[in-house]
Amino acid sequence: MSHLTDEARAPYRRATDDLNGPNSLEALVGENPSRRSILRNGLFGLSVLPAAALAACSDDDGGPVVTVPPPTPTPTPTPTPPPVSYAIAFTPVAANQADRVTVPEGYTVDVLLKAGDSIESGTPWSGSFPTADQAEKWAGGNHDGMEYFPLPNTDPNVGGLLAINFEYPDFNILMNGSYNAATATAEQKALALSAVGIGVVEVAKGSDGKWAVKAGSSYNKRYTGNSSYRAGGPAAGLLSGSIKGMLNNCASGRTPWNTYLTCEETTDNYLDPTQPEQNYGWVVEIDPLRELAPPTKRTAMGRFSHENVAYMANSDRRVAFYMGDDSTPGCIYKFVPDRAFSTSNRAANTDLLDYGTLYVARFNADGTGEWRALVVGQNGLTAGAQDPGNVSQSTTPPAPTTVNFNNQADVLINCQSAARVAGGTVMDRPEWLTVAPDNSAVYCTLTNNSRRQVTDPANPRKTNLHGHIVKFVEDGNSPLATKFKWDIFLLGGSPTLAEEHLKGDIKGDPFSSPDGLRIDPQGRLWVQTDASTSSSTTSVFGNNSMYYVDQVTKESKRFLVGPVGCEITGLAYTQDLKTFFINIQHPTGDWPVAGQKPRSSTIVVSRTDGKPVGA
Ligand code: FEO
Ligand code: CA
Ligand code: CA
Repeated sequence: MSHLTDEARAPYRRATDDLNGPNSLEALVGENPSRRSILRNGLFGLSVLPAAALAACSDDDGGPVVTVPPPTPTPTPTPTPPPVSYAIAFTPVAANQADRVTVPEGYTVDVLLKAGDSIESGTPWSGSFPTADQAEKWAGGNHDGMEYFPLPNTDPNVGGLLAINFEYPDFNILMNGSYNAATATAEQKALALSAVGIGVVEVAKGSDGKWAVKAGSSYNKRYTGNSSYRAGGPAAGLLSGSIKGMLNNCASGRTPWNTYLTCEETTDNYLDPTQPEQNYGWVVEIDPLRELAPPTKRTAMGRFSHENVAYMANSDRRVAFYMGDDSTPGCIYKFVPDRAFSTSNRAANTDLLDYGTLYVARFNADGTGEWRALVVGQNGLTAGAQDPGNVSQSTTPPAPTTVNFNNQADVLINCQSAARVAGGTVMDRPEWLTVAPDNSAVYCTLTNNSRRQVTDPANPRKTNLHGHIVKFVEDGNSPLATKFKWDIFLLGGSPTLAEEHLKGDIKGDPFSSPDGLRIDPQGRLWVQTDASTSSSTTSVFGNNSMYYVDQVTKESKRFLVGPVGCEITGLAYTQDLKTFFINIQHPTGDWPVAGQKPRSSTIVVSRTDGKPVGA
């Protein structure tokens, strides 16, 4: 979570430690659907009408024209396009503290959607404070996780839908002074809640090569902290029938049937504490096409401070969803639906996330790991269970507490406690997980844990200021595995730091506090940081940045540096990987518009030569 979330949630949190044939027509079209029309026109259009046909069109006075078919010409072979390379070849940028977005030479940065820009039709931010009704139609604040979805009948490389999380309000454009939930008026609460949730926007690449939101698109839609949500799954009966809002929409994910999974990184409504706590802390499934169910909190996936969701699917259409609990400390989970998903009938997947098994990860000292089922009656999840608490934060173990798990709803609502009872390993703040395209590895960022006092092999540093990344491999590379093997992929830090335990082991460009994490469809691993913005940290690492990390050599190359005060998060891309969408969260300087208040924003990064990003 961002430091803004930390500060806002602090008064409402109970856990004291929780602060912190490559050339065929079809193959070419399959690779790039935009080529369908080009190829159709090129091969079958007027420009290549056969000579005989042209002759038959001639109209002279000499009577019927007898045409002699010319000899069949030797067809000109279709030129073979050069293979597209995705091998990383950009020149890394230097760490810096400039108040701008820095990218490698030959790349461009454009601002696509700022906090306060219109999503639904209305009046965008213009410098004065809005009413809640106005702000409800805007892009919210603190842009975070993001996914790009195809649209019917649209070349996905030039147009589609972006679903964007808004973690926290950009209060500086909403109201004077600071927000206090305990004393806020109803209008102030509505304003704050207008700026969290998600936005869905139709985006398109113009003839000038620039991406823009399509104003007035029927797909453009806000889902906010004031909107109504339903619940599904085993704990639904214990939540309100109509839930007011979702909030702290941190990171996100998608399903194989192209719905959006937005994650609540809070287990209470700290912007409106009058709401029942059990209504918050869930994964919310939203269909950006609005064909399937209305937005639904999927209780079978557990209640905790959700970061993101990343899925692994097999050839039998079985799937696992990996999730981290960004708590200090928190566990790593996966949810395996009971049924295979359907690729032919999208509607058949409507309630797939309501039935399945939730597991917690246990990292053993010998490099093996287990997924332990969080099912009532199994793994100690019974009435009178003893929760050992967060054993990592004090050399004096906390006193165990008694928790009653009488049914599966108890397990899901008290998921953090259930995970500890079942033997899950408490980790140094799990942020994003990502799955390799061939299912050969899963990575998870453990962003930091400055107050860890008791180490274990998967969390090997006390006072872990700079975080680490763990890698695990499922048995058989299967989403259904109940065992895995793991190792520490890398330790954050910098060799320039004096203290040995802060140096880390990163080769190349060092970083602190890995957070956003994504392996793109070409298997390239990208890491985004959310390190402290104090001068002691930025003087070593520069502003928060985004890196490519080689999974074999573990060498890091800095790809992008953000403006002053920001966190870099959210990564989505077009299928051809020529367009990257990235979020700049909570900048504090004079960005993105000079002379205006700083605003969280979605940016577009691409190359001037039109090749894939990174190559
Ligand atoms: Fe919202 Fe854990 O980052
Ligand atoms: Ca973070
Ligand atoms: Ca994060």
